[in-house]
Amino acid sequence: MKVGIVGAGKLGTALARRSVVAGHEVLLATRPGTRDPGLVVEVMAPGSVALPAQQWGTVDLAVLAVPFHVALTVDLPLPRGTVVIDPTNHWEPVDGPAPDLGGRGTTEAIAAGHPGLLWVKSLNQLGYHDLDDLTDLAGLPMRYATDHDTARDTVADYLSSLGLRPIHTGPLASGAAFEPGTAVFDATATVGNSAPDTIAGAFASKTL
Ligand SMILES: NC(=O)c1ccc[n+]([C@@H]2O[C@H](COP(=O)([O-])OP(=O)(O)OC[C@H]3O[C@@H](n4cnc5c(N)ncnc54)[C@H](OP(=O)(O)O)[C@@H]3O)[C@@H](O)[C@H]2O)c1
Repeated sequence: MKVGIVGAGKLGTALARRSVVAGHEVLLATRPGTRDPGLVVEVMAPGSVALPAQQWGTVDLAVLAVPFHVALTVDLPLPRGTVVIDPTNHWEPVDGPAPDLGGRGTTEAIAAGHPGLLWVKSLNQLGYHDLDDLTDLAGLPMRYATDHDTARDTVADYLSSLGLRPIHTGPLASGAAFEPGTAVFDATATVGNSAPDTIAGAFASKTL
């Protein structure tokens, strides 16, 4: 799969590293103005290619791994119909007080600002360190929500390739049920913080 990731921070580079190991072709867009994107990617995500999103062409899947407040308005020069996973969480220390989203989930708000893309909410329910630390994620449950049936197989295949167990929850609005502060988010994060040798036991003891 050709995977494009916007944002070369903690989550973006961890995803890139794991995606490369999974055999994907990974394009990684650093923040515009980064002095040496090639060096950042060579050090942080070897095997990936540093490339601004406007030069990606068609990708099978994109991931928007930037802070939530950036994601709301960031320029995403991707072809119409591109499948985009939004892993962002509103995090007050980084993003400031929660904005009034008019009852929408955070990914619905981001999608509204970027029409023409096939938005999927997922990958927000794990810690970036798990992608590096846990060679075997033991099928960590990973919920995904989308309004687009055509995006479902691509996303499920990608999540599976990373060692996750995709669970489709329904339309994009259903993603609000696994944002921070929800029981699902807290339960998954707790499991994700378990040591590798206890993770299977943690699953067994939880209703996820
Ligand atoms: N960390 C986790 O475990 C985790 C888990 C699940 C979800 N998330 C979510 O994933 C998102 C990223 O988190 P993170 O921990 O990776 O944050 P981070 O380490 O701060 O990385 C964010 C990255 O976004 C880059 N960026 C900012 N504006 C950009 C733009 N216009 N184009 C391209 N890149 C841009 C930043 O570049 P500079 O460094 O150059 O400023 C930075 O590298 C957040 O929304 C977070 O809530 C994080």
